[in-house]
Amino acid sequence: MSRAGPIGVFDSGVGGLTVVGEIRRRLPGEKILYFGDTARVPYGNKSPRTVERYSREIAHFLARQGIRFLVVACNTSSAVALPGLEKRAKLPVLGMILPGAEAAVRASRTGRIGLIGTRATVASGAYARAVKALAPRARFFAAACPLLVPLVEEGWAQDPVAEEVVARYLGPLLARDVDTLILGCTHYPVLVPVLRKVAGPSVALISSSEAAAEALVRRLGPGAAGRAAGAGGLTCFVTDAGTYFREVAERILGHPLGPLKAVDEERLVLP
Ligand code: DGL
Repeated sequence: MSRAGPIGVFDSGVGGLTVVGEIRRRLPGEKILYFGDTARVPYGNKSPRTVERYSREIAHFLARQGIRFLVVACNTSSAVALPGLEKRAKLPVLGMILPGAEAAVRASRTGRIGLIGTRATVASGAYARAVKALAPRARFFAAACPLLVPLVEEGWAQDPVAEEVVARYLGPLLARDVDTLILGCTHYPVLVPVLRKVAGPSVALISSSEAAAEALVRRLGPGAAGRAAGAGGLTCFVTDAGTYFREVAERILGHPLGPLKAVDEERLVLP
């Protein structure tokens, strides 16, 4: 694999920055180009056809910026668009589903595994297939949680409202006695304190963002962390450069962002 060029990471909006945070913790010297499709977010309630097209456009844009590796830091895109991206991209591609499923199967003692994600991620069945392929005897249960992304973006992750909504969504999964819960959306790591409170201490919470960052380190090969030590950096492209992205992004990353690069949707063309 070519060692030159930055790592490209994209999401429908700001949530993929939880993956960026995990990557930078492990590979602080890597240059990262992040793309948040802020003009077209959310993806989670859209059809697979639309999400697939958006994902291909962004992958093509990032490839033209000279990236050497593409991380699809959006569970929704990974769930519906990954096979197409892998086929077309002329560079290695990593999605969220397999790393999350592998970590869940490793963590589960009882084989009763739950998933929370967007409507599109749950409806795709991608996590169910991945878990079943790895552990055919596993029991898999899923809940779409469309209200969780807006709660995180509103900065209400620690609010009693979040606890009530989380309790409502997790209720049916906990009633199935899951011992492991996959956080199958890049926004959800922000909700870990409230998820932990509602799920209790015995349920393993699997952050797909953390699992994907660990998978990236493995894919880059031995010595990646040491090799990458040096001048790392983060450049953010967005399709809508309103103040909202910066506010939520800085809350997720815990530090100020440099200037954002606005990309007109017209520049997102397919070959
Ligand atoms: N970040 C997206 C994901 O991981 C969810 C946000 C959206 O609906 O676009 O699925």
